[in-house]
Amino acid sequence: MKLTKRARLTIAMSLLLLVACDNAPGPVTPTVVTTSTLPTTLATLMPTTTSVAAKSPTSAPATSVPTQQLTPTIQPPTPGSSAESCVSETAQAEQDGLGDPLFPQLGNSGYDALHYTLDLLVGVESNLVFGTTTMRARSIKDMSAFNLDFESLEITTLTVNGTAARYSHERHELTITPATSLKAGEIFTVTVDYRGEPNSDPGDNSPNEKEYALGWSHYDGGIFVASEPSGAASFYPVNDHPCDKATYTFRITVPERYVVAANGTLKGITENGQTNTYLFETRDPMASYLAAINIAEFDRETQQGPGGLPIRNYFEKSLDSSTREEFERTPEMIEYFSQIYGPYPFDVYGAVVLDDNLGFALETQTLSLFGRRVGNDRVDAEQVIAHELSHQWFGDSVSLTSWRDIWLNEGFASMSEWLWIEHSQGEGAYESYVRGVYGYAQENFLSPPADPSADDLFNAGVYLRGGLTLYALRKEVGDDLFFRTLQTYTSRYRNGNARTEDFIEVAEEVSGKELGDLFNAWLHHAEMPPLP
Ligand code: ARG
Ligand code: ZN
Repeated sequence: MKLTKRARLTIAMSLLLLVACDNAPGPVTPTVVTTSTLPTTLATLMPTTTSVAAKSPTSAPATSVPTQQLTPTIQPPTPGSSAESCVSETAQAEQDGLGDPLFPQLGNSGYDALHYTLDLLVGVESNLVFGTTTMRARSIKDMSAFNLDFESLEITTLTVNGTAARYSHERHELTITPATSLKAGEIFTVTVDYRGEPNSDPGDNSPNEKEYALGWSHYDGGIFVASEPSGAASFYPVNDHPCDKATYTFRITVPERYVVAANGTLKGITENGQTNTYLFETRDPMASYLAAINIAEFDRETQQGPGGLPIRNYFEKSLDSSTREEFERTPEMIEYFSQIYGPYPFDVYGAVVLDDNLGFALETQTLSLFGRRVGNDRVDAEQVIAHELSHQWFGDSVSLTSWRDIWLNEGFASMSEWLWIEHSQGEGAYESYVRGVYGYAQENFLSPPADPSADDLFNAGVYLRGGLTLYALRKEVGDDLFFRTLQTYTSRYRNGNARTEDFIEVAEEVSGKELGDLFNAWLHHAEMPPLP
């Protein structure tokens, strides 16, 4: 008999309630798993398991690291990542949107998210999530109500500063009216308990009604997350725009056969019996679309990066050694990009590689995501690996202010592929590769990179003409000033946000040249300038 999703959910909920009752609360000892509303076992979510003998996570867990170490440290607010300074001039920001020209509904005005804690219990095969997300934020103005972006998961409790708040939840907007109005400058905490199957209706999760699921995805091997640009709200309530970056704590509980790979550093694993709880923390603020939780049967392999930078790669167990070997040059790539772009911006890096034909890769912060075929017909694996790595500087550390400037991510990452070719194969290989790209761009009438539409954000013009723009800039100003421009840009906007105009300003400042015409021709004109 095939049950509907709702029926499965209802049955699971009832069983979980039974389990909870069977395990009347014992002595409560403070541990990492503090969310009292989380069910104590995943057994009922796992179709093959008959036993529901729950072992409370609060009863002396066998921790692999001392408990004290597992207490999340809250990061201080980072300047330059507040929604306040990042609202579009062209559109009016509303409470339920930041006025992004391409995605006016994304993000919310009125507050600055500082830190998210995602505490999720995940039934991997059933794809059921029981979650508690806490957002710590600072209000920018006096507010009687505010919004979060959140998809159609069922909310069970919602509090602001520990007190129940009124809320309404329609499609991707969650409107919250706290019992007491918030004053400008006030730090406040929103806690949302929720449950359900994320993205059970994939058509529902994009303001533009995309067909494919953005965000939380259930696949043969488990769960992965790929949210760019608007999928984060499929699994947690969030101010979903890169303008409002925040730090994160992930506390993810899964059946013990699975491994969790999330952004940042693994601080510990708590064994609860049939489940394990993985604790990850990010040191640096992160745009919401880069938040990633991957759950599968992974091998964790480490490499040593330059200056002792820790690198951890998660390969799905079924992947063969040839796929793993493609990542051998990551430390060398980090070394090279650090030299030309400035220091690697984060405290950890690595790849998570799924045994699945993803058809794309994504630069999730500190932990890029790849599918089984890392390369494709046009681009080899090394290029894709260099591409996602370079996004850690361009896109992740220096984030977009407006999605329309997506070429600041993808053009720079394409350029990085070509620079890696130059570094590893020589100048001739680089020049001839770029000439090939130019020919392709011409034959296919690729669009100017700086004005994509919302439903064509990742068009080839953005990637390739974007990269060619930087090739042309390099020719114009010479290597020394070109790389100094890139380094000034990455350091000035590190952990912050930039616009196309900001990059042009840095390029003009560093080179002392008027570059408006060059950028205008490459970025905005239908017809490409000749290749210099
Ligand atoms: N930023 C990604 C890259 O590096 C693109 C992601 C496109 N997303 C997708 N679902 N195809 O190329
Ligand atoms: Zn990219």
